[in-house]
Amino acid sequence: MATLTTARLVLRPWRDADFAPFAAMNDDQAVMEFMPHRLPRAESDAFADRIRKHIDAEGWGLWAVEVPGTAAFIGYTGLSAPRFGAHFTPCVEIGWRLARAHWGFGYASEAALAAASHGFGTLGLAELVSFTVPANVRSRAVMARLGMRHDEAGDFDHPALPAGHALRRHVLYRLAAGAWGV
Ligand SMILES: CC(C)(COP(=O)(O)OP(=O)(O)OC[C@H]1O[C@@H](n2cnc3c(N)ncnc32)[C@H](O)[C@@H]1OP(=O)(O)O)[C@@H](O)C(=O)NCCC(=O)NCCS
Repeated sequence: MATLTTARLVLRPWRDADFAPFAAMNDDQAVMEFMPHRLPRAESDAFADRIRKHIDAEGWGLWAVEVPGTAAFIGYTGLSAPRFGAHFTPCVEIGWRLARAHWGFGYASEAALAAASHGFGTLGLAELVSFTVPANVRSRAVMARLGMRHDEAGDFDHPALPAGHALRRHVLYRLAAGAWGV
């Protein structure tokens, strides 16, 4: 089971104790500003359970992020395989969601660097993608810091959202193993 460590963080499998703080952040309007809706506890738990089972089965996924000595759980960062179909799927997505109190410290970018390195180095992936709504500048800044490129021709309408939904349009970012240096 892969646990990744960085200068300040541990990216680890999930524990039962992570579910409550995860539910709190999924119920925070600031964290969920660019998601279709805040998650009720049952939906948050089901999501965490799905993430945990994926890591158990595959050894990689959306790792729980810990700041040793500071916070046992600040959110997730890692890799996932989108379940919807689009012009760029199947693919592996790199993503992040941190509790509001832990924004502004560089944690998401630091964790994403470790996750990308694991994806390219250990898993041998050829490419990582990431996507979000155009207005999510914080997430796009993490993508840019990681060296991802905005593939403007690849921008798409998220198939899980109905026509006319304010969050339907997404920007697509890509990072190829070659550009990473492997
Ligand atoms: C997206 C998200 C993870 C970005 O968080 P973030 O804190 O802005 O990103 P980072 O952790 O990389 O931190 C970068 C910030 O920390 C600052 N920083 C402070 N100390 C730092 C350090 N030691 N190293 C690097 N950056 C540091 C940077 O200057 C930057 O600040 P700025 O935004 O004022 O320029 C966060 O906003 C979030 O969880 N949003 C909700 C969920 C979401 O939208 N997820 C993406 C869906 S696609």
